[in-house]
Amino acid sequence: MKIRVETGPIEEIECDALAVVAFEKESPGGSLAWEVTKAVNGLAGKWIEEMCQSGEFSGKLFETAILYRPSGLKAKRLVLVGGGKSDKFTGVELRKAAGAVVRALRSKSIPVVGLALETGGGLEEQVTAAVEGAILADYEPDQYKTENKKGQPIETFLAVAPGGDPALEGTARRAQIIAESQNFTRSLVSEPANRMTPAVLAERAGQVATEQGLECEILDQDRMKQLGMGALLGVAAGSAEPPVMIILRYRPEAEAGSGAHLGLVGKGVTFDSGGISIKPSENMEKMKYDMAGGAAVLGAMRAIAQLRPSIAVTALVPAVENMPGGRAQRPGDIVRTLAGKTVEVLNTDAEGRLILADALTYAKRLGCTHLVNAATLTGAIVIALGQVNVGVFSNDDALREKVLAAAKAAGEKLWPMPLDDEYKEQLKSAFADIPNVGNRWGGAITAAMFLKEFANSTPWVHLDIAGTAWLDDSKPFLAKGPSGVAVRTLVNLAVNWRD
Ligand code: BES
Ligand code: MN
Ligand code: ZN
Repeated sequence: MKIRVETGPIEEIECDALAVVAFEKESPGGSLAWEVTKAVNGLAGKWIEEMCQSGEFSGKLFETAILYRPSGLKAKRLVLVGGGKSDKFTGVELRKAAGAVVRALRSKSIPVVGLALETGGGLEEQVTAAVEGAILADYEPDQYKTENKKGQPIETFLAVAPGGDPALEGTARRAQIIAESQNFTRSLVSEPANRMTPAVLAERAGQVATEQGLECEILDQDRMKQLGMGALLGVAAGSAEPPVMIILRYRPEAEAGSGAHLGLVGKGVTFDSGGISIKPSENMEKMKYDMAGGAAVLGAMRAIAQLRPSIAVTALVPAVENMPGGRAQRPGDIVRTLAGKTVEVLNTDAEGRLILADALTYAKRLGCTHLVNAATLTGAIVIALGQVNVGVFSNDDALREKVLAAAKAAGEKLWPMPLDDEYKEQLKSAFADIPNVGNRWGGAITAAMFLKEFANSTPWVHLDIAGTAWLDDSKPFLAKGPSGVAVRTLVNLAVNWRD
């Protein structure tokens, strides 16, 4: 999708459809609370006002209406998109409203689409939200549909900001990089497990590295054996697909004093059958998204390489398939982690924490001073937070605050979870240093407590994205399937890093 910022007079803008936001009648300022909407209403013979007054258009979030050949505008169509209550309308709603416009028009194969932004303050935030929302909405995981594809991608999206500063072009460019990287993540996650093996994921990471100028290193099974990554290798043992550890490195030009080195670690289980502790077959097909954390980290690196922040960033993605083959690890097996701690594998379906344990340890060996991992780690986080919030766990208040601030700026929802020492009671093994599971209660927390043992004294944040990395149903502004959650947060964290 091509992106442009239009700062000229609104009546002069040539496009197939120009969208404006109208609000619910009762909200402050009424339906036409925005100046830009009022201006367009005046040009187009009060169509907007009449539609809203009559109640035919309620202004509810994401409602759309289309007028063909509006008078007074060069645009071929005028589109109304509902903004809900004007005083509740923030960047988050704008991102979704832009998405709703794109999806409504995409389904009609309309190529050039603009969205009018409110004149005056906050244009940077508006351009960012509109551009991101448009690009994210245009993504459809239909690469394997050979017929009955719904609609066509939008060709050009215009962020319409009459009288705006031409420097907004740069803002739009950054938003485009981030949203396209999030779509890259979604495209990785949408691949079925027969086409997205650990080796394929490594290949795709290598392509990104070549295209964007990152250093890429792939540790193979032999190297991991030499190093002693017993926890990771144990998970991989049941699969015919060999595991890999993907490492991407970004280095800023001039080491900007700080010395901080961010490690982004992502769970890359390309399929989670559960292993010998096999999962029920219902919904098992969804477990191709168990590499969403790894894909988020790769997507973030794709953007970071282009936005060039001043902090060093290393990404690590342990990639394995969790299968119940004849060489699979068994419940009761004891493995030795890279850190030297032994783990009793009581449940082979708690595999994410095993591969992450070795990856976190290795990240520290590579010099990372701060660690952030993203993982579809537990069903328990879905019970706790539903499909709305990412669970945030941390051993360091300052880093947790940084991550929460980055998420807020990115418009992603994160919710802090506890890690009290009392939960550690559950992690006692009779025969090894630590078991890989606790009891039934607080499963997302005990999983995080397990990881914390390996982060140790290094500042660390764990994002459990099991509930948020996959949309079970499409939304007016997003396709069903992979969401690409955490990409924008991770990018903002690196780009806005302050010691
Ligand atoms: N990949 C799953 C977690 C998951 C569940 C992700 C549902 C997305 C949706 C993880 O590897 C897993 O199987 N966790 C187990 C842990 C249990 C065995 C302690 C779980 O959550 O049931
Ligand atoms: Mn599992
Ligand atoms: Zn898993």
